Amino acid sequence: MKADVLLGLQWGDEGKGKIVDVLTPEYDIIARFQGGPNAGHTLEFNNIKHVLHTIPSGIFREDKLNIIGNGVVIDPIILKKEIDALQKYNIDFNKNLLISKKAHLILPTHRLLDAASEQAKGKNKIGSTLKGIGPTYMDKTGRNGLRVGDIFEDNFQERYDKLVAKHENLLKYYNFEYELTSMESDWFKGIDFIRGLHVIDSEHFINNKLKNGHRVLAEGAQGSLLDIDFGTYPFVTSSTTVTAGACTGLGVSPNKIGDVYGIFKAYCTRVGSGPFPSELDNEVGQKLRDMGHEYGATTGRPRRCGWIDLPALKYTIMINGVTKLCMMKSDILSHFSSISVCTHYKYKGEVIDYFPYDVVDVEVEPIYTELPGWNTDLTEVRKEADFPKEFSAYISYLEKELEVPITIVSVGPDRNQTIIRSV
Ligand code: GDP
Ligand code: IMO
Ligand code: MG
Repeated sequence: MKADVLLGLQWGDEGKGKIVDVLTPEYDIIARFQGGPNAGHTLEFNNIKHVLHTIPSGIFREDKLNIIGNGVVIDPIILKKEIDALQKYNIDFNKNLLISKKAHLILPTHRLLDAASEQAKGKNKIGSTLKGIGPTYMDKTGRNGLRVGDIFEDNFQERYDKLVAKHENLLKYYNFEYELTSMESDWFKGIDFIRGLHVIDSEHFINNKLKNGHRVLAEGAQGSLLDIDFGTYPFVTSSTTVTAGACTGLGVSPNKIGDVYGIFKAYCTRVGSGPFPSELDNEVGQKLRDMGHEYGATTGRPRRCGWIDLPALKYTIMINGVTKLCMMKSDILSHFSSISVCTHYKYKGEVIDYFPYDVVDVEVEPIYTELPGWNTDLTEVRKEADFPKEFSAYISYLEKELEVPITIVSVGPDRNQTIIRSV
């Protein structure tokens, strides 16, 4: 079997958690491959809303295995809190949650370094979620990091102390004030907790399962425009959020990747700093934010809003090799009588149709096409035959432009508010 991949095509928060939950019945294993608690994946069913940060979004479906892969960075405090909060749902975490020995650990001092670095950047700050993501991946690639497998070794405390001493020197450089003791006590409680969980060699496990015909869905976090290589650098996260990240973050070879589900909102949002060509810093943007409840699932920050951006989407579809598209939050556009689609940019005096190198320092002006809105509530629609004709036209237009079928359309946050199209 091949592993399918599901990931975000914009700047995160596209609705990945919801669609993973919807698709989980078709799979045996759901595996997160990168990122960490900077992610906030929302699932809604039975009138309850859940937000997951480190745990894969297949956890609510019985008899499905959920793996936190080697590419993920784990904060033991947050993982413990997440699991504690889910205890009331009778999930068997020992059976259904598996953690890679090779996943890196976020230390309390990584979080402090994240905050210190952001403070030092002043108005150029990334707008990090301050979960310690950047410093942890820096220690991983700098070959200093601590991994989950290390917590079972006798010299773990010694290695922890050594890394913390290094971090404390860096914090002096930043002239950053902090109090570490209480954070450390919670952190070591979290480490003890992880010792009691099911820790495995996940690359062997996943490959054996694929060999034996099991179906695997790799769940991405963040979005492709936040990717460390292809995102709007330096306003990005520190991991590989694109399809290739599923290979390195799970140990699945490129020739074992099957379908790639690319998720996008019918419009566009971004949280944190950095370029956003189609951003609407006006009452239309505010209306998208209000109607779409666009406030971050992890930090509660208001999300910046704008119209859909086709050059950016074509770029991320290309980088990811997307085979199926999922369009989210279509219901929010019901509140607009006319819908704008950014088709080109004006860039350095020229009209271009691709995502250029420098979108940070050079102004990128969006060029729009107008499409008629449908002015009809979609939240109760459950089959394609009931789509208003303007909505079907919007879908056809996007499919023609993006050259990939839109196989899933989402019309509300609930599991049931999902239409699978046979295209
Ligand atoms: P993720 O990080 O990609 O999993 O996305 P988030 O959970 O951060 O943000 C998506 C938000 O949109 C959540 O609050 C979801 O409940 C909500 N959502 C997902 N799909 C839809 C939809 O089709 N319509 C509406 N109105 N809300 C949706
Ligand atoms: P999900 O998985 C939206 C953004 C932050 C910041 C930048 C770097 O829920 O889609 P970091 O904490 O990684 O150093 O922050 O990336 N960011 C996200 N934006 N959704 C996310 O995850 C994000 N994770 C990080 O706001 O701009
Ligand atoms: Mg999110």
